[in-house]
Amino acid sequence: MARAVVTLPAQARRGEIIEIKTLAAHPMETGFRRTQLGELIPRDIIRRFVCTYNGAEVFRVDLHPAVAANPLIAFTTERLCRDRDRLDPRRVSICTRPCLVLAAACVFLDLRAAGAAAEIPPAERRSGYEFMGRETRAMQDDDATNPGLLWVLDGEINACRTGRQKAAPLAFESRDLLALTAYVARQSRGLPIDIAIDEPTRPFLQAGRETFYRRQGQLNLACAQCHDDHWGAKLAGSPITQAHPTGYPLYRLEWQGLGSLERRLRSCLAGMRAEPYAYGAPEFVDLELYLMWRARGMKIETPAVRP
Ligand code: HEC
Repeated sequence: MARAVVTLPAQARRGEIIEIKTLAAHPMETGFRRTQLGELIPRDIIRRFVCTYNGAEVFRVDLHPAVAANPLIAFTTERLCRDRDRLDPRRVSICTRPCLVLAAACVFLDLRAAGAAAEIPPAERRSGYEFMGRETRAMQDDDATNPGLLWVLDGEINACRTGRQKAAPLAFESRDLLALTAYVARQSRGLPIDIAIDEPTRPFLQAGRETFYRRQGQLNLACAQCHDDHWGAKLAGSPITQAHPTGYPLYRLEWQGLGSLERRLRSCLAGMRAEPYAYGAPEFVDLELYLMWRARGMKIETPAVRP
């Protein structure tokens, strides 16, 4: 049994056709990876999806290798029971096994040398959302199709667990930590980023700003060259956004899962052929503070969806 978010109308009349949307969460193991000892890790993907209602099967589908890790499955059915009955999400059962391979190509642009880049004026600030295609936006807009919500629901469970307080710190990028962060950030969805910089925090903001404008890595690039000077342009087919951290943690289709802002920043650093900072490193914390300050006034979108 895998976790699933089920969305369906609250009620329906007998004989009425209703649409049921399900988002299933599942780990993705391609069957091609090996453990440190060289043993093949068995494939583990969603192979079969069966939806039952009060014990009776209403929908079934067999899935094959090209399935996503967290597929959205929508289907229509006739209401099966008496008035006010609801489809019980606990009765959605999912069987697992064999495989998916995702190939991601990465090509980097050689950008022209930029002068001292100017900060983006407030009126021109745009979330990464606005650079996304119609499908990605639609996926983010509708809670029934936004896979990031799978983690938010986990967070809800975590937040209720009182035993947590005495537990060891949650690991960076672990499902538990992402779930908790997504859950907490989602409480601020739609609210503007309001960041207070005082004397004690000012040096950290300054350090973050310096990192953003400093050229680094084998390509000798600064964050600002892409995100202040070339936003709106494309890099290997992906739109270059303004790098606002409004949607994190967010669901990335390429990751087939939720990821933190630091994971995203590590990708950008790797793209610059620079040594990525470790998770939780002071350089990241400063950079994140600067990015938040740079996006002040913009609305939180967590969990956003990006390609
Ligand atoms: C060579 C150009 C380039 C450089 C240099 C670069 N990035 Fe990026 N960055 C991108 C592209 C392209 C994307 C969007 C990729 C996508 O979503 O598919 C992105 C995405 C982001 C995002 C996510 C925005 C969102 O809406 O989700 C953040 C934040 C970000 N970059 C910050 C940084 C920081 C900080 C640096 C410097 C350490 C940096 N980037 C350096 C090209 C660059």
